Amino acid sequence: MKVFAHRGASGYAPENTLAAMRKAIDLNVTSIELDVHNVGGTLYVFHDRRLDGKSSGTGLIEHVSPEYLTTITVDGEPIPTLWQVLCYLKAYNSVVNIELKGLNSLGPFIDLYPKLLNEIGYRSEQLLISSFHHGFLATLKQRLPSARLAPLLEGIPDDLAACATRLDAYSIHLSLSFITQELIDDAHARGLMVYVYTVDHPQDIQDLAKMGVDGIFSNYPDVSQAIIDRLTH
Ligand code: G3P
Ligand code: MG
Repeated sequence: MKVFAHRGASGYAPENTLAAMRKAIDLNVTSIELDVHNVGGTLYVFHDRRLDGKSSGTGLIEHVSPEYLTTITVDGEPIPTLWQVLCYLKAYNSVVNIELKGLNSLGPFIDLYPKLLNEIGYRSEQLLISSFHHGFLATLKQRLPSARLAPLLEGIPDDLAACATRLDAYSIHLSLSFITQELIDDAHARGLMVYVYTVDHPQDIQDLAKMGVDGIFSNYPDVSQAIIDRLTH
């Protein structure tokens, strides 16, 4: 079972910052999940729609300027651009799950994606693009046919994993709260990988492994990996 560092190694360092990415790499975790928002045409790595609470700033992230973002921090760490994070992670042969947040992140991502391949040197298999906004993914499939896609689901859809088949997705990302064997089996029958968020508890990890889940998103990826290693040895 694969383990993604959720928002970087966010159990140990401020989420979605370069410090959280460095911590994941220090822990030998090279599969990373992160969230991006569009700020003035540039994609920044940050989870919430509001800056309040998680950062020293205030306001809706999509309404502030990139200049403003440079003046604020997340627990003392700068808010990085997607480009900065991907440049850092490239040296470690990372697999990066980029989650498109907000309603305005699609356009900048379509523009950026070819540069991630041609200028930084990522292979399309290393970049997994996910979103709760399945319309974004449908557009991505048309515009960037080689991109690996993953619909995020919060609940149990009445057509199980059919949305992922329609999108020709690589994987389907399910909430731990709504995981069922039926959903997992349906996804597998469609040739999809099944990844589950957000999983830190040893019992959950054990249960998901038994259910045949292919990967999890964890805030303590080293601890989760150690539990998985014990299960398989
Ligand atoms: O991508 C898995 C997970 O990160 C989705 O939910 O809210 O943590 O971005 P959230
Ligand atoms: Mg996320």
